Amino acid sequence: MISLKSKREIELMRKAGEIVGDLLEAIKDILKPGITTLKLDEFAEEFIKARNAMPAFKGYVSAFKKHYPSTLCTSVNESVVHEIPSNRVIKEGDIVSIDVGVCYKSYYGDAAYTFPVGKVDTKKAQLLKVTQESLYKGISQARPGNRLSDISHAIQHWVESHNFFIVRDFTGHGIGSSLHEEPMILNFGPPHRGPRLKEGMTLAIEPMVNMGTSRVKILSDGWRVVTCDGKPSAHFEHTITITNSEPEILTLPSKNRNHRGHREDKNTKFV
Ligand code: CO
Repeated sequence: MISLKSKREIELMRKAGEIVGDLLEAIKDILKPGITTLKLDEFAEEFIKARNAMPAFKGYVSAFKKHYPSTLCTSVNESVVHEIPSNRVIKEGDIVSIDVGVCYKSYYGDAAYTFPVGKVDTKKAQLLKVTQESLYKGISQARPGNRLSDISHAIQHWVESHNFFIVRDFTGHGIGSSLHEEPMILNFGPPHRGPRLKEGMTLAIEPMVNMGTSRVKILSDGWRVVTCDGKPSAHFEHTITITNSEPEILTLPSKNRNHRGHREDKNTKFV
């Protein structure tokens, strides 16, 4: 069952999402060569607690019964997702995916952004651009009347027509009073399949895109996922809600408020 959220529930998710958006914005400013991923994690935990929320990933129990130990996933270069923050030092030319979930008054927000550090080579820059665009292609399909796989198909089509590779082993998900709810949102597949999308659904859409192969493996820590060819990977995610018109992105920073006090993303205009 895909739950439909009330106005009150969506308002709480908007608050959770704003903390996520503001945190990613703040991380952008401190993500410089020389910083360790552990420092980013400490910064994030303090930031979230100062906003009266809790990190959602810390203590999360995986399918293999492992507890995630950190606030962030900090997945560098060949890491796809779920790299645990450590003393790994960020270097000029790296791409760093920051994935973060927060829980505010029992409601969740979840987003990821892959940042270039300093100057990155053109192929990496293209990977980031196409992955972020694929997220927005997916979001633009999130409207009443469409079916779930219209999101999946739009993402896959954009990525593959730019000669990059969708990671098939991980998916997006419903979100709300749990971090992971139904439905599972594949990042590939034929259009017009699966449940019809309805106003009040809240979804975390999250394409993971590789430069050289779809194939990934989980390392021995039980968390970190890397590309099998060691080439780079990117990951972008937003929590959104379906409305009777345009989807609303819940995980934008507060600086994106327009004159009516609503948060908007100019990126959505290109889709
Ligand atoms: Co997620």
